[in-house]
Amino acid sequence: MTDSASPTNTQDWYYPSEDVVSNATVKDYGALYNRSINDPEGFWAEQAETLEWYKKWDKVLDSSRAPFYQWYVGGKTNIVLNALDRHVKTFRRNKLALIWEGEPGDTRTYSYFRLWQEVNKFGSVLRSMGVKKGDRVTIYMGRVPELLIAMMACAKVGAVHSVVYGGFSEQALADRIEDAESRVLITQDGAWLRGQIVDLKKVADEAVKRSPVVEHVIVFKRTGHNVHMEPDRDYWWNDLMALPVASVKCETEMMDAEDPLFILYTSGTTGKPKGILHTHGGYSVYTSTTLKWVFDLKEEDRWWCAADPGWITGHSYIVYGPAILGVTSFMYEGAPTHPYPNRWWKLVEHYGINVLYTAPTAIRGLMRFGSTWPNRHDLSSLRLLGSVGEPINPEAWKWYYEVIGKGRCPIMDTWWQTETGGFMITPMPSVALKPGSATRPFPGIDVDVVDDDGNSVKPGEDGLLVIKKPWPGMLRTVYGDADRYVKQYWSKFKDMYLAGDSARKDEDGYIWVIGRIDDVIKVSGYRLGTAEVESGLVSHPAVAEAAAIGIPDELKGNIIYAYCILRDGQTVTSDLEDKLKEHIRHEVGPIAVPAKIEFVKSLPKTRSGKIMRRVLKARAQGLPEGDISTLEE
Ligand code: PRX
Repeated sequence: MTDSASPTNTQDWYYPSEDVVSNATVKDYGALYNRSINDPEGFWAEQAETLEWYKKWDKVLDSSRAPFYQWYVGGKTNIVLNALDRHVKTFRRNKLALIWEGEPGDTRTYSYFRLWQEVNKFGSVLRSMGVKKGDRVTIYMGRVPELLIAMMACAKVGAVHSVVYGGFSEQALADRIEDAESRVLITQDGAWLRGQIVDLKKVADEAVKRSPVVEHVIVFKRTGHNVHMEPDRDYWWNDLMALPVASVKCETEMMDAEDPLFILYTSGTTGKPKGILHTHGGYSVYTSTTLKWVFDLKEEDRWWCAADPGWITGHSYIVYGPAILGVTSFMYEGAPTHPYPNRWWKLVEHYGINVLYTAPTAIRGLMRFGSTWPNRHDLSSLRLLGSVGEPINPEAWKWYYEVIGKGRCPIMDTWWQTETGGFMITPMPSVALKPGSATRPFPGIDVDVVDDDGNSVKPGEDGLLVIKKPWPGMLRTVYGDADRYVKQYWSKFKDMYLAGDSARKDEDGYIWVIGRIDDVIKVSGYRLGTAEVESGLVSHPAVAEAAAIGIPDELKGNIIYAYCILRDGQTVTSDLEDKLKEHIRHEVGPIAVPAKIEFVKSLPKTRSGKIMRRVLKARAQGLPEGDISTLEE
């Protein structure tokens, strides 16, 4: 599936209508791009000027300690200054910041004023618990407005949030709490998904047992089912917000532009997940500039980024980017198919969504139910569509374009990563599209496809995707592991950022991302390391050794296959595969559950003992195994 996008269908051009072009903020991409690349610092200074600062920067970019680049050095800000504080002094005070619908159908809306007040109140609560600048706070919640409030409240008081996606389970959560050394955990009793309660509090309790650094747990009541509340440790959100300490007066902490804003854990090649660190200044500039130009958001628009706030897409384009621009965001709690496969289309119609941004896996999932469901709804409010997370195959692209966008709405296929903070390769509405290609780099972003020696490859040839200039939204380091930051991203080529994806450039300079070059698997657009699945399996008493691989799948992009060697004395029973799947679900999370587990006596390894996943992958798909001369046996 990931390979189905190919530069051979370059004749498939889709040109934007005159209407789209005349409405677009950026009409001449080429001119803007050239200017940005000829004078990146001037360009990024200009973008930063559109925001408010407590104090402007002395230097736009400091490369003296590269690859530890610093942006807007000497500048003083706080992302919340731009995302909330400044709006409540303007007409936006009364504008909707957030429209929310729960899966059961309940709704809530927040004006910018109300959101600002709630953030202030919760910020005051955090301060009263002793949370201060630089402290890390872990947030483990579902898609509820309180998740946004918790994130922004952390930022407001200068704390560093670490949001852990609600689909992760006990060990994954415990590892992330431990790595960040969070004294405070914010969670909720449960979340609604497909008509069922996901018992987040139960997972949180178990994780806290395994990571005793946590002193306080704040629990938002969402589902109202019975949960255990540990005395002197657990507090209900609503109780705290009703206390006099929950003051609406909460001063925004003045931060250095380079002070950390959040850590977000993501999967890498080996070992434990990496805490990707982003900062207040550069991230504010980058998320707002990219969102403004790529999705052309207007004051009157209703924007729906259907990702989860627990992933970078949600951080940048549900929480911070839209709030900085002062737009109205829509958020939905539950599953796209609940109670029927028309739920999303009903939401688009009901709330008059203008721009919808989602992932190929969601599009393929909904496409499966046919066109009748969307066709029952008035989708004429839509103006632009977006895609992110993995290459979009042309069939899904065309369905999205024809059936959802009625051939009127250009699709912004945005390539980027947790590490990049925002869109990197992406069209803008005025750019001609080719289904399956993320098209061209964003202004200020210098992208290339190179061979192993770092030389640009010819058009149509596969190579490594690299970024040749720093940009304000880039990660600053891996939390607590600066060596890993250098090694992972800046050691193959010293002065180019290695993205970890393979790609091709076609004759027109359009970029086609092929997929990961490392041991990262994209399952339904979610990023998982083979190491996470493997250590989850090995933590079961029956398993001695395990290998996990990704296999292309029509719907999910990739699915996980796992191979296990049992410990001495263990035998394969008929229910062992199910037991192991349950174990992974419990320890790592539902997204890490392999579609298939095979029990084997040995694994193909190199002489140095590295598992040859390439060989397993070929075998699983019945393909030639390639060069196996380095195989141990
Ligand atoms: O392989 C690329 C793929 O997703 C990876 C980054 O994953 P993550 O950090 O979880 O961030 C996802 C959301 C930004 C990339 O290395 N990827 C992301 N977007 C695209 C994509 N592959 C192809 N086309 C895209 N539009």
